[in-house]
Amino acid sequence: MIERMQQLLGELEEFSATTPEVLEAYRNKMLSKKGVIAELFNEFKSVDPALRRETGKMLNELKEKAIAKIAHAKDLLDQALEAQKGSDVPDLSMPADFAPLGARHPISIVRNRINGIFEKIGFVISDGPEMEDDWHNFSALNFPLEHPARDMQDTFFIGKNPDLALRTHTSSVQVRVMESQKPPIRTISPGRVFRNEAISARAHCIFHQVEGLYIDKGVSFADMRQTLLYFAREMFGENTEIRLRPSFFPFTEPSAEMDVSCSICGGKGCNLCKYTGWIEIMGCGMVDPSVLENCGIDSKIYSGFAFGMGIERITMLTYQIKDLRMFFENDLRFLQQFRAAT
Ligand code: PHE
Repeated sequence: MIERMQQLLGELEEFSATTPEVLEAYRNKMLSKKGVIAELFNEFKSVDPALRRETGKMLNELKEKAIAKIAHAKDLLDQALEAQKGSDVPDLSMPADFAPLGARHPISIVRNRINGIFEKIGFVISDGPEMEDDWHNFSALNFPLEHPARDMQDTFFIGKNPDLALRTHTSSVQVRVMESQKPPIRTISPGRVFRNEAISARAHCIFHQVEGLYIDKGVSFADMRQTLLYFAREMFGENTEIRLRPSFFPFTEPSAEMDVSCSICGGKGCNLCKYTGWIEIMGCGMVDPSVLENCGIDSKIYSGFAFGMGIERITMLTYQIKDLRMFFENDLRFLQQFRAAT
């Protein structure tokens, strides 16, 4: 028994608790009702009377030491836990968590590029409402009352109000600019537009435009051509050529469609340009004098040109995207491919 107690005393010296669980297990082993010390007290009953004194003394010592040691170990453990809590303060020298970068939407990438190209030559960006009245979307722009673009099939009207619709082009913003500013005016209006079209790979009821307007004294068709040539070369490369074909818009006279030489085949003919060497990218023309007058600008003093392009179309050409619907589906597999672009 003495030997056993000596061994336990040695153990007691060595003991230290790293967790509350270890401490509790040790306390149980030593001091509980069925613990080793209780057991020793039981054994003590049958100790030889000659050894009783010595053994009893040692047993009491062991018990007191065990109580003191376990209490001390508990104090140390509590202190350590408390100190650990304090160290929850973040370590500012740690490398930061990796924050995955998002990707800009391809429409935003191309819109920003178009804006940047025109801003370099003094165009400023104008914004306007997506919900428009008949005057700004149609009437001021010379759309006759019976023009098919006003028809329910093309325009989303708001409720039953025939005077309120989602804008079908951002030319409406240009009307607002002409009404509120004096020439010289050099502005572009990027934005979302709405047309009541069936959704397919080549058409959508929502898309984006950048339209431009330049009004000053003596602005000519040649100025327009040169501005648009500059744009085409900045956008599609310095060897790009442009071609203007006669066309019609109610608000411009003369009007034209602009083609750029195919950037894939350089004009030789390929799948993308359908073997014509040319790709149509925008409408343009000299602002009709009656539109200037509608907006309070004297058409005898001022002239100007306007142009408008669909951002989706230019994005499809730039990135060779075949289906317009991809722009609106928010499929991450599609969007993540534009991570590296800005
Ligand atoms: N507003 C026309 C459209 O949406 C584009 C355009 C703008 C054409 C300016 C000529 C001049 O189709």
